[in-house]
Amino acid sequence: MAQTPLSMEPTGWYQVAWSHELAVGDVRTMKYFSRDMVAWRSASGKVSVFDAYCEHLGAHLGYGGHVEGENLVCPFHGWEWNDKGRNVCIPYEKRPNKGRRIRSYPVVEHNHAVWIWFDTASRPPYFEVPDMFTAFGDDPADAENYYAPIPGGTLFHEQLELHPQYVMENGVDFAHFKFVHQTPFMPEFTRHDFAGPVSYVDFTIAFEEGATLETAASGVYSVNAGLGCSITKSWGMVENRTMPAVTPVDDRTCDVRFTVWIGKKPGEESTTELTKYGKTMTDLVIEQFDNDVEIWSHQRYSDPPALSQREFKGFTALRNWAVQFYPGGDSAYGRDPAHPESGAIVPLHPSATAASA
Ligand code: FES
Ligand SMILES: [Fe+2]
Repeated sequence: MAQTPLSMEPTGWYQVAWSHELAVGDVRTMKYFSRDMVAWRSASGKVSVFDAYCEHLGAHLGYGGHVEGENLVCPFHGWEWNDKGRNVCIPYEKRPNKGRRIRSYPVVEHNHAVWIWFDTASRPPYFEVPDMFTAFGDDPADAENYYAPIPGGTLFHEQLELHPQYVMENGVDFAHFKFVHQTPFMPEFTRHDFAGPVSYVDFTIAFEEGATLETAASGVYSVNAGLGCSITKSWGMVENRTMPAVTPVDDRTCDVRFTVWIGKKPGEESTTELTKYGKTMTDLVIEQFDNDVEIWSHQRYSDPPALSQREFKGFTALRNWAVQFYPGGDSAYGRDPAHPESGAIVPLHPSATAASA
């Protein structure tokens, strides 16, 4: 295990909970990006995520704070804060403190999950969390053809020593499929589109014994929105859709969440709950993902990596794409000036730089 040299503050959308974990009126403490935060759901159902400390005298809103209507009420002196983190009521004064605001993060709920937008420069979101049932060009009604992923279709690992970029690199890493996922052949990429902050990677893959690249009639599509959020859809095999989400907790660790949708078996169309068949398939998909997690959570980021000839193009494209999400990043920022063509990224993490100096 090794501390990643990559910044743990890349810009993007990050899953901080599943929607069902936050009922109306709930106030939940959490820690992401080395900050104490609270997430709460208002009476009308809107989720907000704030830095945890009240702007009045600094009480932690997660310890005794409560929801009243559309506001979060501090346990210490009863000041009320709206969904934007604005003070809207001081119970013992005529007027609120209009100038004071608790840092709040843009929130969306999508694909059964709660996502926050994190950006060190506080820019508004400039891309979206892709929708599981429209991002692949499907009819949204296709959701009916899948068992509900909640509960039973999720995996949660807390504070693993890995980085969101490792998980994204998995998508261009054709060689690992044979060794980590026991595929009979190495997948071939049919699409690598890294033109924008949302990238698209598609490949041909099969799991059954004896399949070859020539005979395989199955594959995976993936949509990657920044480094923290991706969704995949399989075709030609057991219908499944997955959503890996990796969220930095502090300088060393990330929470990993994984959600799995399995296509319903004929005869089970009217069920929404996960059946025995659905659970078996879910567990198989989760097992494959966990095989990756075992590698990622112990790996040391290799930079520049010793890439084989065939690996060079995909990894270089992925790493160059990733640079844009790092603080201060643009298409050139962070590139090793001695080898700009390599796509290798100069360590951006100050303590890692110091440690390796
Ligand atoms: S510290 Fe929150 S109201 Fe005083
Ligand atoms: Fe993998």
